[in-house]
Amino acid sequence: MSSIALTDKCMTQNIAMILHYTLQFLDLKSCLVGIVVFLLLLDIIRNKNPPKFPPGPMPLPFVGNIITALDFKTIDKLTKEYGDVFSLRLGSEKTVFISGYKMVKEALVTQLDSFADRPVIPLFQKLFKGLGVGLSNGYLWKNQRKFVITHLRSFGEGKKGIELSIQQESNFLCDAFKAEQGPFNPQFYLYNAISNIICALVFGHRFEYHDEKFQNILNLDSEAIMLAGSVHAQLYNIFPRLFEYLPGPHQKMFSNYEKIKDFLKDEIRKHKEDLDPSDPRDYIDNYLLEIEKKDSDPEAGFNIETLLVAMLDLFEAGTETTATTLRWGLLYMIKYPDIQKKVQEEIDRVIGQSRQPSMADKPNMPYTEAVVHEIQRFGNIVPLGLTKMACKDTTLGGYFIPKGTSVNTNLSSVLNDKTMWETPEKFNPGHFLNDKGQFVKKDAFLPFSAGRRACLGEQLARMELFLFFTFLLQRFTFSPGPEEKLSLEGQLGFTYAPQPFRMVAVLR
Ligand code: HEM
Repeated sequence: MSSIALTDKCMTQNIAMILHYTLQFLDLKSCLVGIVVFLLLLDIIRNKNPPKFPPGPMPLPFVGNIITALDFKTIDKLTKEYGDVFSLRLGSEKTVFISGYKMVKEALVTQLDSFADRPVIPLFQKLFKGLGVGLSNGYLWKNQRKFVITHLRSFGEGKKGIELSIQQESNFLCDAFKAEQGPFNPQFYLYNAISNIICALVFGHRFEYHDEKFQNILNLDSEAIMLAGSVHAQLYNIFPRLFEYLPGPHQKMFSNYEKIKDFLKDEIRKHKEDLDPSDPRDYIDNYLLEIEKKDSDPEAGFNIETLLVAMLDLFEAGTETTATTLRWGLLYMIKYPDIQKKVQEEIDRVIGQSRQPSMADKPNMPYTEAVVHEIQRFGNIVPLGLTKMACKDTTLGGYFIPKGTSVNTNLSSVLNDKTMWETPEKFNPGHFLNDKGQFVKKDAFLPFSAGRRACLGEQLARMELFLFFTFLLQRFTFSPGPEEKLSLEGQLGFTYAPQPFRMVAVLR
């Protein structure tokens, strides 16, 4: 065969190969285009809103409004643009935001049974498994909530017991503040003191402030709470299957909670060992007895797994919230020394310096009561409440919200509603006082939310806030640490909390 014939053959082969690959490439490309168009159409059809669904910003294909930050300030801006009832789509999950006193009241109180469920939030589902109180639904939720409320009443609020426990803890807190020689950050003392009240109720004992093991648990907890607000944690909620395998702060959060669970398991084990059925000492003892009683009713969920989650619930919901509110309280007193002085004058006049404040003093202290309320209003620690879910097809503000849609009631917008508060942007105890200086309740005071899912620890929290706050101001005058730049801008984790600050506590 000649060399020319060989070259021709090679050329033909090459052209054929190029054609083959080009055609293959074109095929692949058109295939890809086809798939993308198909997926886009599927995305549009799958996520099509029903008629009269609340409006909202245009979602991106596949990911929805993923780039919209979910902090309450962004939500407030969107409310101005789209109205008191608007929606966002996160991945394929639609969420409705409800703002302003009128609409939030309509959702939580007037339509009491419409938004009483919790949706599955992947981040918390992994930890709480839909058990306990805060994130459960239906028959299990009803039974667990009722049990906690009954326990709080019989062990706590109803009796003098809890008041005494708060008074004793106030003394320990006061000693810890006294021992500080210079400026200090009060965060962990407050955290420890408040969690000790829950510990007394649940475990039957408190922990010393220098107990290293417990300090470690509190550190893990407060870190986990901050991590719950991280971008990774939010993304986990949208793409749980992907983020389950990716490293990041969300993994640290899970590992912190596992360690906290181990600590709680240890407490349950010890309680089981020396349980005396004729003399239940605390929440765990009562729960262990309830497990036996409800043996024939497994749907009610009384078992060790739910006990663990319910304890985590109480620990989380009952510690961070109240401690953060008190921290805002101290910060405001430092920032507004005139108000601090007026509270102290009332304390000196009504209680004096020789005895500890008690709940019986509260009706005689309208100014202090107004300041504590204003701390909660202005502190705004749970700005968007806890996410709920429509348990039936519902119409709100003229919009249709189908069963199963996630709903956030914007409590921040209620606590700052211009139509309900004289000076919402200013710390003003006058919001809760009438012309005669008497304390007045306000309808738009909803830091604990309202309706079926309202905070069940409200009475306990109110007692803690009044007693700790009054006791601290009876004993100390608070001022900023030298060169401390106090910011009223908070940071958002599980709660909206003050940035760390250092203060000086001078004995009075
Ligand atoms: C200043 C302190 C507190 C504030 C501001 C607060 C606020 C809230 C808010 C806004 C909710 C969500 C309500 C809703 O979904 O509509 C809630 C739920 C809850 N809180 Fe509190 N809370 C505080 C203290 C406590 C304490 C001390 C406890 C424990 C004894 C507690 C236990 C709970 C529980 C278990 C839930 C879930 C209720 C349910 O889903 O049925 N909270 N709280």
